[in-house]
Amino acid sequence: MIHRRTPPDWVAPSSPGHNRPLVPRVERLARGVRAAAVQVQSRVDLPFEDLYRPTRVGVGFTLPDDDLARRSAWALLGEWLVAASVRAPCLGQGLAAAHDWFWQGSGREIGTAPDVDVDLEIGDAVELRALLPYLLDPMAAATRRDVLSAQTTAHERRSRKASGVYYTPGDVAYLMVERVLSGHAGTDEDLWIDLAHGSGVFLRAAFCALGGRSEAADRLYGVDLDPIAAETASFVLTAEDLVRNPDAGAPWERWHRFRRNLATGDALLIDTSTTPAQPTLQFHTRTDAIDGHPLGRFEPWGLSAVFPETAGRGFARVIANPPYAPLQRSAATFHVPYLHGVTGRAAGADISPVFVELAANILSDDGALAVVLPLSVVSSTRAPFPELRQQLAAQRGWLEFLSFDRVPDALFGDDIKTRNAIVHLDRSAPSDLTVSPLYRWTSRTRETALPNIPVVSVAGVEGVPGAIPKIGSEWERELLSACGTHGTYLEHWQSRRRQLPLERVTRSVDDVQSDVLALAPTAYNFLGVMRDPFRAVTDGHNSQNGFSIIQFSSERDASAAYALLSSRLAFWLWHVTGDGFHVTSTLHHRLPIPPGDEDRIERLADLGDRLWKAALEGPVVSSNRGRTTVAYPTWPYTELIDQIDAEVGAYIGVAYGARLAAWHEQLVVVDLDSERRNLIRRKK
Ligand SMILES: C[S@@+](CC[C@H](N)C(=O)[O-])C[C@H]1O[C@@H](n2cnc3c(N)ncnc32)[C@H](O)[C@@H]1O
Repeated sequence: MIHRRTPPDWVAPSSPGHNRPLVPRVERLARGVRAAAVQVQSRVDLPFEDLYRPTRVGVGFTLPDDDLARRSAWALLGEWLVAASVRAPCLGQGLAAAHDWFWQGSGREIGTAPDVDVDLEIGDAVELRALLPYLLDPMAAATRRDVLSAQTTAHERRSRKASGVYYTPGDVAYLMVERVLSGHAGTDEDLWIDLAHGSGVFLRAAFCALGGRSEAADRLYGVDLDPIAAETASFVLTAEDLVRNPDAGAPWERWHRFRRNLATGDALLIDTSTTPAQPTLQFHTRTDAIDGHPLGRFEPWGLSAVFPETAGRGFARVIANPPYAPLQRSAATFHVPYLHGVTGRAAGADISPVFVELAANILSDDGALAVVLPLSVVSSTRAPFPELRQQLAAQRGWLEFLSFDRVPDALFGDDIKTRNAIVHLDRSAPSDLTVSPLYRWTSRTRETALPNIPVVSVAGVEGVPGAIPKIGSEWERELLSACGTHGTYLEHWQSRRRQLPLERVTRSVDDVQSDVLALAPTAYNFLGVMRDPFRAVTDGHNSQNGFSIIQFSSERDASAAYALLSSRLAFWLWHVTGDGFHVTSTLHHRLPIPPGDEDRIERLADLGDRLWKAALEGPVVSSNRGRTTVAYPTWPYTELIDQIDAEVGAYIGVAYGARLAAWHEQLVVVDLDSERRNLIRRKK
């Protein structure tokens, strides 16, 4: 049960919307801020350490000499942006006035800020505050659109891509915070941590969820490898605190209150074991020695050593959008496999699953976590993913996997097209395992779609959690079970299966042979199946992608199998069991075939022949990088597909036809009120 609160005012303006993509808007605004930072950097001279060194020793404060000017520049811009977003009295008087305002009453020598204009056209203070975490990001976004348009920030984009850093839209942060608050009664002592906090998108959401009082600062913790992140996140949190509690103290006091709980360190090197296999530094005995480089650079480190007040409690709420990237080697990364027994060994390919294992390990006995990461955490059958799912499912409480498709809109917005998943574990809730469909929405429906993700329990379903079906209703679970208990599948019917580009089939197979069909290696809204693989080549197909060439013992069986692969059941099975893109052997293991009923096979073969004849009327030809792909979609021939579905439904014992027809329409059209749906309707 998810309890919904009214979203904070920053959620909508920090989220992608209809005709309002987030990243281009931020990039347009951020250019002015970054340009100002470059100018400030060349002239700045601040007593940086006196002002911004955290008040807690041992949190990995790192300031290489050559980074002093950049960090000073971004601190001044942070102060100015906070002042602008809370409509401070100094507004409009430049960086120096904002610097004075920020440090009022501190009694410190604060230096002077250079007189630089910041070109930022944003009239609305709420919008400015909403976008603060993105504007306070020295690195430009890595979007396809950006890569195509602006060359100036190419290096930063490359580095952002390489390190897997995509910032989280406000609505996603809010969704995840709502998730970790569900079920759990919670106490006023609960501690929160973001293991890769960046500029504080999640910590801000957590601060609001905690009621937004200034004291909530003491319950928010974070870790980030990038030394500037702790500073920018503190500005974001300070702005929120100032708006909610206008009279609770000077900006600098609030900033330092947030800053002292943010560690600069490598989260992968956090040692969560009580009896570490590797030596862990005892920080309280060596506090002066450890600042100067991010924690974990040379050896594993412990959260409770850095934040002693958290010792023995764990964190009741853990949230993260970790980087999606391979492990960058450092002096200490050889520890990673020992520290994270399930996922550490595979960190060379991607570190994001390590963050899930880590989050579970630091979670208190009745705590809840939510981590957003690539869809592979749900769909991959390669190590460490099945093992990680097993480990999570074996824990007490409620485990949930939410899956998100990459189009029409994507979780990180239209510009960053990735399939994603949110893993959510709540140790205080009754034992369950729930899943969502591979969810789709448009930028127009996003606002209502995200808070209403359909979920269904799959606890006890065959194969779970080794494989996670992406379904969202009871009837889908029943349909999956009916397929699972059927007993004979496509793989038992076919006599041979090879992977070949269609051109090669023409050369290697006798022209008269007609007991084969071809299945495309990837799919989106329909499975690319061809009753006659040669026909596509005749129609101009010259893509070198390997198709599954499936051979049967007779022409009749091949026609019946073509009908079967064109059924809505086949497409649905692919969609709910695969990764939303590749067509793998899973489908061959799962697609039920008619059990020895010759009449039914005849009828299916006849339907298959008629469908192929119809499909030949409407080939779809597409070209990409000089290669042509030809497909023969069958979904427009609804009457034939209805009949095929009725045959298949009869032998699996579930009359699924009408439900899957509605499901498919919803999936393909996505926005049921859109113009596109009306166009499709009119065509029919
Ligand atoms: C995808 S960003 C997420 C930032 C922020 N949490 C958000 O959602 O917008 C990933 C963050 O992880 C940080 N990071 C990368 N590797 C890390 C590591 N090994 N330990 C801790 N933080 C890391 C990056 O500096 C970056 O700020």
